[in-house]
Amino acid sequence: MAARLQRAHAIADLRRQAARRLPKAVFDFIDGGAEDERTLRDNVEAFDAWMLMPRVGVDVGTRDLSRPVLGYRASLPIMMAPTGLAGFFWPDGEVAGARAAARAGIPYCLSTNSVGSIEHVAEGAPEGERWFQLYFLRDREWMEALLRRAAAARYRVLCLTVDLAVQGRRERDLRNAFTMPLKPRLSTALDLARRPGWLAGAARSRLGFGNFQIGGGAAGSGFTSVAQHVASLFDPSANWDDIARIRDLWRGPMALKGLLHPADAERAVALGIEAVIVSNHGGRQLDDVPAAITALPDVAAAVAGRAEVILDGGVRRGTDVIKALALGATACSLGRPFLWGLSAGGTAGVSRAIEIVRGELDNAMTLLGTPTLDAITRDHVRARRGGG
Ligand code: FNR
Repeated sequence: MAARLQRAHAIADLRRQAARRLPKAVFDFIDGGAEDERTLRDNVEAFDAWMLMPRVGVDVGTRDLSRPVLGYRASLPIMMAPTGLAGFFWPDGEVAGARAAARAGIPYCLSTNSVGSIEHVAEGAPEGERWFQLYFLRDREWMEALLRRAAAARYRVLCLTVDLAVQGRRERDLRNAFTMPLKPRLSTALDLARRPGWLAGAARSRLGFGNFQIGGGAAGSGFTSVAQHVASLFDPSANWDDIARIRDLWRGPMALKGLLHPADAERAVALGIEAVIVSNHGGRQLDDVPAAITALPDVAAAVAGRAEVILDGGVRRGTDVIKALALGATACSLGRPFLWGLSAGGTAGVSRAIEIVRGELDNAMTLLGTPTLDAITRDHVRARRGGG
């Protein structure tokens, strides 16, 4: 591993390294959120509202950090969230991330908006536990073809994301005029001159939305902003009937990503969906919605064990994972932490991010007196101020 990565001891260190390597517009695309970024901040800060309550006298000589997630025995209760454009952050970034996930034994979820195609990523990281994330597309035939392609390439779980009817208003991207590829502006050229590592990788890469390039129904040429891509191809009219249709089409386990309201979780369970992912899209969609960890307890209560509950958003520490599990999550999904690792050092950088979370989780479980994940209960957390 590069010495630089070895000097990263917390996820925040990888974020700093990513900021040095990436052009500002690209770093901001990863880092940023919608409008005033209140939900973005709150996703992280709301974990502070909970304290850990350790118990003593427990044999913590050996620990088991593994957990079944939709039938796959994950080595850790975490997964890689679907994130578009990973191949823009590191050459062949989706494969780089999927390989790190496979080596660590955690699920990898490929985004609809990936640079590498469904088939390319499956071939590049054939061993791992692969999920495919789907958005509702106006072109239903194209969308259903994506499902068939994912099944044929042995993605085992479908993750349907339902919080992106349109793209949120991400002002950093607007101010930076962020497009793929980057528009040739003077400020961009000056910035790129300071990022030779990223530039060399981008020059070698075939950039585009890989799942949209074959046949009809495609976008992805010229300078495309993600908002334009979404507005032209995504379908804001999709409703619960459409969700039910996808449920019927997909034979494997299915997760519904992007809900916060317990009644929506109830509805997902009623459709036979096996996992709900409590998420506000990492604060990138509607601002001022609850933090994921704030929304979690009510959703977990509504689901009442009938489906798995995955907490997505703001996880930066092993202790965050413990809090989420104590409040009813089966597992956590992490987006930016792995993208910072990827941007800092490709597969090795993502592996470093996973190792950091593993080390923190193991340390915290030992000190908390919970040698297994099942030992973590609601009694191991306390609300910092009132409530909870
Ligand atoms: C995302 N996210 C996302 N979600 C999804 O379902 N499909 C996608 O294509 C993307 N793309 C994407 C790109 C980038 C750059 C980011 C940062 C996020 C949301 C992602 O899956 C996840 O919900 C959040 O990243 C979770 O929050 P944290 O872990 O980043 O705080």
